[in-house]
Amino acid sequence: MNEKRAWWKEAVVYQIYPRSFQDTNGDGVGDLNGITKRLDYLKNLGVDVIWVSPFYPSPNYDNGYDISDYRGIHPEFGTMEDFDRMLHGIHERGMKLVIDLVVNHTSWDHPFFVESRKSKDNPYRDYYIWRDGNNGGPPNNWGSCFSGSAWQYDEATDQYYLHLFTPQQPDLNWANPEVRDRVFDMMTWWCDKGIDGFRMDVIGMIGKENYLDGAVPPGGLYGSFEKSCQHTETTHRYLREMRERVLDKYDLLTVGEAGGTVEQGIRYASLDEKELNMIFSFEHNDGLNDGTELGKWSDHGAPLKEVREIMNRWQLGLIGKAWNSVYLSNHDQPRQVSRYGNDSPLFRVRSAKMLATLIHMMHGTPYIYNGEELGMTNAYFTRLSDYQDVEVHNAWKQWVASGRVHPEDMMRYFARIARDNARTPMQWDDTPNAGFTTGTPWLAVNRNYLMINAEDEVGDPDSVYNYYKELIRLRHTHDVIVYGSFEPLLNDDENVYAYRRVLDGTVLTVLCNWTDRTVPCGLKEESPGDILISNYALHKEGVLQPYEAIVKLGKE
Ligand code: NOJ
Repeated sequence: MNEKRAWWKEAVVYQIYPRSFQDTNGDGVGDLNGITKRLDYLKNLGVDVIWVSPFYPSPNYDNGYDISDYRGIHPEFGTMEDFDRMLHGIHERGMKLVIDLVVNHTSWDHPFFVESRKSKDNPYRDYYIWRDGNNGGPPNNWGSCFSGSAWQYDEATDQYYLHLFTPQQPDLNWANPEVRDRVFDMMTWWCDKGIDGFRMDVIGMIGKENYLDGAVPPGGLYGSFEKSCQHTETTHRYLREMRERVLDKYDLLTVGEAGGTVEQGIRYASLDEKELNMIFSFEHNDGLNDGTELGKWSDHGAPLKEVREIMNRWQLGLIGKAWNSVYLSNHDQPRQVSRYGNDSPLFRVRSAKMLATLIHMMHGTPYIYNGEELGMTNAYFTRLSDYQDVEVHNAWKQWVASGRVHPEDMMRYFARIARDNARTPMQWDDTPNAGFTTGTPWLAVNRNYLMINAEDEVGDPDSVYNYYKELIRLRHTHDVIVYGSFEPLLNDDENVYAYRRVLDGTVLTVLCNWTDRTVPCGLKEESPGDILISNYALHKEGVLQPYEAIVKLGKE
C-alpha cells in the first residue's frame, strides 16, 4: 500500500443543509436542535463526519452563504448553547463535525462592510475591493456568478465594489494582511471550540490577481473573471499561509469547494499536504451543459460517456498524487437520482443504489447529501413562485424577463437543474410536512414523501437507506475500497460503467448498468471472487439487469 493512512481518507461525510433538515420549534426552518435530535439516525447509518452548511447570522440573501457574524449562530437555527450541545452529541457518538467556511465574501451586513462603505478613508475600506467606474460604467466587464455585473455602484463614495456572487455578498480583499489575520483568528477560534474541519466555500476565488476585462462568450452579456481570480498562484499562497498559521495546528478534514482542472486539483489536494486534504471538482456536474451563454440552464442530460470520461480522468489524475472527494449531489445541485439516474417509480430505488455503488467504491472520500440516502428526488416545481433561490430569480430576470429565453424552456431547465430541487425538507415520515416541521416549511415539501421517507426506509432491509448503510460498513471493513488503485474497465461500453480497484493482491470489481435495459455484462471473463454487494438479489451470469450494480471481491 503506497497511500499514507488518514482518518479523513477512511471516512464517509454526510452533508446537512440545516434549513431543510429538521425543525424543532415550528417556525418552518430547520435548526441545530433538529440536527441533535437526529444524531442517532446518522450514527445508525454509519457516517463518520457531519458537514453542516452555514448556520451563522445572515440576512439570507443566499441562504446563509452571506455571513454577517462568523462567530455567532443565526437565531433561526438556535443559540451557541445549542451548537455546543450538538457538537458534544456528535463527539459522544464518535463522529466529527465539519463547518462551512465562507470567506471569499461576507454579507453586506457584516460590520466590516458596514464600515467599509462609509468613506474612502475608513479603516475597513481596504477590507473589500473598491474601484472607480470606467466611462460611466463598472470598472470592468465581469459578470457575477448569479447574473448581472460583478460590480455594484455605491453612491456614498461614488465607487464600485466587487461581488462575484450577489451584491449582498461583497468580496473580501485577501491582499490586505489584516483581512487574512481576521480570517485566521476566526478559524482558530472555531478549532479551539473543538470542530474537526472546514468545507471552504469557493476557495479558489480568494486570490484576485488583476482586474482586466475577461472574455465574453458568444451571445453573452458579461466577461469572465476566470483568468484573473480563479485558481491563481496568489490563492495557493494564501492557502499555504492558512495551512501554516491555522490548519497544521489541528487534526482536521479540509475540503475546498474549488472546481477547476485535474492539474489544479492536484495542486490544492496534493499528498505533500501543503494546502488542503481534498477539493470538490465540478466537471461532472456543472461541466455537463450545452456550452452556451446560458451556462447551466439547458436540457443537457448526464450521458454515461461524458460522466465516465470526466470521473475517470479525475480518478486517474489524482490517485498517487492527491486525494479525491467523490460526490454527485449537494445543496447546489439537483437530486442525483433525478439527474444521473431514473426517478420513475419503477427504477428509482435500483438506480439510486447503482449511483451510490459507483461513488462509494471509487478512490476518494465519499460525500452523502442529506436525503440522498433515501433516494429523494427533484421537487419538479411548476410555478416560478415555488422557487426561493436567488439564482433562479436572477436567471429569470436576465434571460426570460429580457425576452431572450422562452418562459416554458426556462421552467423546464429549472425543474431539471435548479438548486431548490435538492433543498426541499428532509422526508422523515408520512405525517404532515413529512415530519420536518409542525409549522409552514420555508420551501415546499416534495409531495412524494408518503412514498419516500426515512421511517419506512430504516425499517426496510431493501431500502436505499440500508443499502447506503452497507456501503459505508464495507468501506470501514475493506482497505481496498479506500486505498486500492483505480483501473477503468470497458471504457467504450455504451451501457456499463466499470472499474477495478486493486490492493496487495485483493481485487474489487465494480460493474454498473447506467440504463433501464438488460445489457451484456461487457467483461469477457467474469471477474474473480464473490459478490460483495449488489442491488439485485440474483445476478444473471453474462448480463446486467436494468440499473444493476455488482461489486465483486476476490484475489488476483
Ligand atoms: C458555493 C455555495 O455552495 C453556494 O451555495 C453559494 O451560493 C456560493 N458558494 C456563494 O457562497
